[in-house]
Amino acid sequence: MDVAQATGSEALRGVLRPFQLELRVAIRRAQESDLPGLEWFGLFSGHRDIIRAAFDRQLLGDMEMLVADLNGFPVGQVWIDFRIGNVEDGASLWAVRVLPPLRRLGIGERLMRAAEAAAWRRGETVTSLTVERRNVDARRFYERLGYAVVDPPPDYGDDGTMGARTATLLQTQWLMRKPLAPRREASDARRGA
Ligand SMILES: CC(C)(COP(=O)(O)OP(=O)(O)OC[C@H]1O[C@@H](n2cnc3c(N)ncnc32)[C@H](O)[C@@H]1OP(=O)(O)O)[C@@H](O)C(=O)NCCC(=O)NCCS
Repeated sequence: MDVAQATGSEALRGVLRPFQLELRVAIRRAQESDLPGLEWFGLFSGHRDIIRAAFDRQLLGDMEMLVADLNGFPVGQVWIDFRIGNVEDGASLWAVRVLPPLRRLGIGERLMRAAEAAAWRRGETVTSLTVERRNVDARRFYERLGYAVVDPPPDYGDDGTMGARTATLLQTQWLMRKPLAPRREASDARRGA
């Protein structure tokens, strides 16, 4: 091997060496310009109408859509539904997801904490969500954050509207709830202190 070859392979090893990235992620409200990005390059194109409907409900104040923004792209999201219609459920969280290559870095937990804070600001004292019964990883994730399965689930009937929980849904999903512990600064803010 001549000197040039040796130097070349060393340079190659150098550029192939794993490197650390520091990522700056901001949790913020979704904007209309995020809607195409929320389809995640085709993964959720089939949800286009659902995503649009959720955004329209945000404009009405019925829903808040939070995104985890990385370089302007929504790499994670959670929707907070304030109008589910069952008082024990408080605010309902939907569409909790993080882009697959960015999972297990703490983004999901940040989104959940932000969603709970948003619910609390709106006067809610409970947040709830449903999770597929076979999605044991997600269930563990929620339990670690303080959610508990409601078993047996309440009888919601079957009204079939978007966002409504139905008896059919709860045959395959767990309903989980979390009472929001009143933090001092939040309760002071609510009292107008
Ligand atoms: C569920 C979901 C939103 C969690 O998002 P996430 O960004 O991976 O969540 P976090 O990183 O905050 O925590 C997840 C796990 O990573 C671990 N973790 C957190 N920070 C970490 C870090 N810096 N390094 C390594 N692990 C970490 C947590 O301990 C947790 O472990 P667990 O699986 O034992 O609970 C994500 O996995 C997802 O999008 N799943 C697919 C969609 C889905 O199932 N959504 C729920 C529908 S109800």
